[in-house]
Amino acid sequence: MPPPEIAPRDRLIVALDLPGVEPAEAMVARLGDSVTFYKIGYQLAFAGGLPLVRKLADRGKKVFIDLKLHDIGNTVARGVESIARLGATFLTVHAYPQTMKAAVESRAGSDLKILAVTVLTSYDDGDLDAAGYRLGVSDLVEARARQAQVLGIDGLVCSPEEAASLRKVVGRQMSLVTPGVRPAGSASGDQKRIMTPARAITAGADYLVVGRPVLEALDPKAAAEAIVAEIAPALAG
Ligand code: C5P
Repeated sequence: MPPPEIAPRDRLIVALDLPGVEPAEAMVARLGDSVTFYKIGYQLAFAGGLPLVRKLADRGKKVFIDLKLHDIGNTVARGVESIARLGATFLTVHAYPQTMKAAVESRAGSDLKILAVTVLTSYDDGDLDAAGYRLGVSDLVEARARQAQVLGIDGLVCSPEEAASLRKVVGRQMSLVTPGVRPAGSASGDQKRIMTPARAITAGADYLVVGRPVLEALDPKAAAEAIVAEIAPALAG
């Protein structure tokens, strides 16, 4: 079971996958108190969205910067130092040892937590083979999760299907953050391996990342509240 001290509401991370600051601000206003945690990824970050990190943090929201960094150690370190000053809570990096080590060392002294992406969920064994990897997906995910833990990474991004097995590998120390979450009855979009919020929490996820089921809902606030309402009993039971 995930640590009880995180309130159900604070476990929902809404992905602000929107084309600019204006629609993003409008969505944040519509969601109001129903959402406390937002994710900013490529689309919004590269459309002028990074200053929104500080703005949201100043309003008491938490922000997850999902830019999946990977470069030589020095470049990652300098980038992470700049990101730590934006006031974000989570930042993703690819789970390569040099990258993870640089990120963990350079966020020291800030509140920024580093999440590692083990293997992108769009990759299967054939994709890894084509990219020159020796291991298949499940072995590589597990090997990288162990390396991440040794290097002091705070959490892992994983599919809900990987959550239960990764929880056994890394124990309670690391946060597991899962996208690919779909409330019962909502469209799966391009997500292939999906779980409901309740099942993802029961499988061991600490935080759920949800984009389209909230952003595209007729009533985004009600959609977010419905997800939180599904999280609470799953934590209890
Ligand atoms: O709209 P949807 O709920 O599918 O959005 C999920 C979010 O999580 C997107 O921002 C997507 O980039 C991100 N994500 C994902 N699968 C991963 C890693 C991140 O869907 N493996």
